[in-house]
Amino acid sequence: MSKQYFFQAGSFPTLSYVELVSVFQLYGLSKDNIHLFTGNIFLIKSDDVTEETLSKVFNRLGGFVRYGEIIENTETFLKKFEESEDRVVFGISLLGELDRSDARKDNTFIKKLANQIKKGLRESGVTTRFLIPKGSGFELNAAQVINNNILEKGFELSIIKNHQRGKEIYGNTIAIQDLEGYVERDMNRPYSDIKMGVLPPKLARMMVNFAGLKEGTIWDPFCGSGTILMEAAVLGYNFLGSDTDENALYYTEENIKWLNKQGYLGDIIYELFKLDVTNPDKEVIKELKNTKIDAVVCEPFMGPPQKNVVSKEKDEQLLNLVKGLYLSLFKMLDDEVGVRGSKMVLIIPSYKTDDGWKTFSIYDVISNRWKLLNSELSPNKDLKWGRKNSIITRNIYILQRT
Ligand SMILES: C[S@@+](CC[C@H](N)C(=O)[O-])C[C@H]1O[C@@H](n2cnc3c(N)ncnc32)[C@H](O)[C@@H]1O
Repeated sequence: MSKQYFFQAGSFPTLSYVELVSVFQLYGLSKDNIHLFTGNIFLIKSDDVTEETLSKVFNRLGGFVRYGEIIENTETFLKKFEESEDRVVFGISLLGELDRSDARKDNTFIKKLANQIKKGLRESGVTTRFLIPKGSGFELNAAQVINNNILEKGFELSIIKNHQRGKEIYGNTIAIQDLEGYVERDMNRPYSDIKMGVLPPKLARMMVNFAGLKEGTIWDPFCGSGTILMEAAVLGYNFLGSDTDENALYYTEENIKWLNKQGYLGDIIYELFKLDVTNPDKEVIKELKNTKIDAVVCEPFMGPPQKNVVSKEKDEQLLNLVKGLYLSLFKMLDDEVGVRGSKMVLIIPSYKTDDGWKTFSIYDVISNRWKLLNSELSPNKDLKWGRKNSIITRNIYILQRT
């Protein structure tokens, strides 16, 4: 019987799904292999997908927390560890859609199961150490799994529930997201300008993946401190970064140098240059015309981070600014640079105002030479990134220049 795998998405499952579809396409895999089990758990069912490929896919993804194989028979699975000569370290997590009204029952169940496994292995002469979620949590976090070497010295058993359908499956974690790497790039890079607004690196990674490029050059024309470009570099793409602000370019340069010291850059070719999209320099345009750009991935200026609901006037001002930047960018791309066949991934903000949520339509800024791909990639074409109480939501659009 063919193996089945699970992928656990992060906080924005719709975005994660589109990312998975985009990366699957890179490996020649169809999105028909991806099935939603519940909420943030996707199952991969296919005879054509190897574990080696899935591991490569998983390691690229920004929107997924863990992936593993579905265990058909738990007893057979646990038997493998009965022969172990070293101490087995194992963990248990409860994933999927849980019945939150019965949290205590779930916690007791995890504890009981862990002790049962421990006892079973002890009877075979195997010593064990186990980790289970603490407090009100149900799953081990990435640091717990990684720092305790659970995947190397034993296993993490995931019980994946679909409470509504009364279904439950078991999974064995194969890999967990490199959370440390993201935190390192977010917090420990030399420059990060909060005033300018910094994209979360995981979202930057997803956006780069949405472009669905096998290889090639990615351009961020509003590069800020280089968050998108850093993720493009980690994935091995060549890149161009431009901004109207000299400080931003300096920050990006220093951040990229820092990334190089971490051993990421290899033979990647990149260039950073000053460019005001509203008044582009002719010489720069000439250079760009002669450069093959495979995707433009960007977030424009979104205004300073907002703590309170935006007033109607302020909102209009911010949205007009963003709209103006995009109109200039698309004019430059269509009329001057020429980017036929290129992909584009961009963010349009929505602001929470005292008069409800406000944004503008993507069709206000693109010509009919651009095709919107959102609905081809996902049944839910509204791709949004926004925390519950935030004042700004990012709407993401994936386009292709025909
Ligand atoms: C929100 S920041 C981008 C942040 C970036 N994604 C990051 O995470 O570091 C927007 C950037 O757009 C730049 N910008 C604003 N107006 C511009 C223009 N007319 N041409 C080019 N860049 C511009 C700003 O200088 C700023 O660095």
